[in-house]
Amino acid sequence: MTPNQSTAGLNVSAPTPAGPLRVDGPRLLQGLSDLARIGADPRGGITRPSFSPADREAVRWLRDWATEGGLHTEVDPAGNLLVRRPGRRHRLPVALMGSHLDTVHNAGHLDGAYGVLAAVETVRVLSAASAECRYEPVAVAFANEEGALFPQPFWGSRALMGETGDMSVDPVDNEGRSLREPLSLIGGDLDRVAEAAWHPADIVAYLELHIEQGPVLEQAGSRIGVVDAIVGRIVFDIELVGAAGHAGTTPMRGRKDPLAAAAQITLAVRETATRRRLCQRATVGRLEVSPNSTNVIPGTVRMTAEFRDGDADRLELLEKLLHREIPAIAEELGVHAVVQTSTRVRARVTDERLRAAVAEAADALGLNHMTVSSGAGHDAQIMAAQVPTGMIFVPSCHGLSHVPEEHTKDEDLVAGADVLLQTAANLAL
Ligand code: HGY
Ligand code: MN
Ligand code: MN
Repeated sequence: MTPNQSTAGLNVSAPTPAGPLRVDGPRLLQGLSDLARIGADPRGGITRPSFSPADREAVRWLRDWATEGGLHTEVDPAGNLLVRRPGRRHRLPVALMGSHLDTVHNAGHLDGAYGVLAAVETVRVLSAASAECRYEPVAVAFANEEGALFPQPFWGSRALMGETGDMSVDPVDNEGRSLREPLSLIGGDLDRVAEAAWHPADIVAYLELHIEQGPVLEQAGSRIGVVDAIVGRIVFDIELVGAAGHAGTTPMRGRKDPLAAAAQITLAVRETATRRRLCQRATVGRLEVSPNSTNVIPGTVRMTAEFRDGDADRLELLEKLLHREIPAIAEELGVHAVVQTSTRVRARVTDERLRAAVAEAADALGLNHMTVSSGAGHDAQIMAAQVPTGMIFVPSCHGLSHVPEEHTKDEDLVAGADVLLQTAANLAL
């Protein structure tokens, strides 16, 4: 808990479960199945990066799904979709629940979408039960959590927390195209993004339900994960500039081959999380070669490298180290390297009272649970900087995610949504 976090209003007493509230399981599962058709990728998964046409279609679908349930929807200037009970209850502080609709390329159908639909279902059930809430339950689909097209991950949750950063230049996608028009097409407004910020004191709690995306719960035979910590992350954008040339007539000596440098940098990145143990995870995920022709020595290479760890100091040290080491590797091959840190996300811990509330809700539902940390990043870690935050996991089959094979058993999907509902109900009643 950071000192400035509001503790007022978060009265999570030892709850006697607020009645046998349950989500409508078939409705939730059908919704997930219908949403999974949007952005279907011919490779078998889903490609629905934020602010793409597929993402716009998903937001439209969600607005209809929520409206069918008698709920009120609105898109804020950052492109976040907010779903409330009908009739605006400004006087009540908010219990915010949600996740993200956007995906990585060729993704599974549950990462993010599951938490959003379960949050909307929770607001719908609480509304139908006309629960007299001390807090207003609101669902949110945060824009651009993944950063797959516009590489500004956590865009929506950062905007809601007033962290939009330098907006003197338009954010651009991986091809340099401005966010301005795609954001306006989804109902946002780049010139008014600052208006998407909420005052942290207006949010008594943020709850996020998510698939674990790892193997821990499944291996332990646990139905519910009570998340205690979320990993931190830094992302490098690396540009390597060499000298293009004819593959046949250019002697090996004296070549300035940026792809050879990229290969050595890729292995050096991997070593930071293996032999050197400087962080928990290190990955090169994107590599663009120009001109990308078989018989041409590349002229430039753009690549990304991302590093994860639960310890902010270790990531900070690693960032400084690699900002020196990567150019040195490139220089050895006569290649110029420009290394920029494009993303820094701090590791965060969840709120102890909300962990207890989630565990009590799982107990009340007869679901075994365990404490688990998240190796994936989430909007919850942006919210946790200023708002009491809780996170609930359900098992991922074989720990797979960010791939079409991502899967969670239906009964676990429904159970997790019931835990979210029960936790919110206990908060709200
Ligand atoms: O990359 C992550 O950890 C998350 O899926 N955004
Ligand atoms: Mn993801
Ligand atoms: Mn996610």
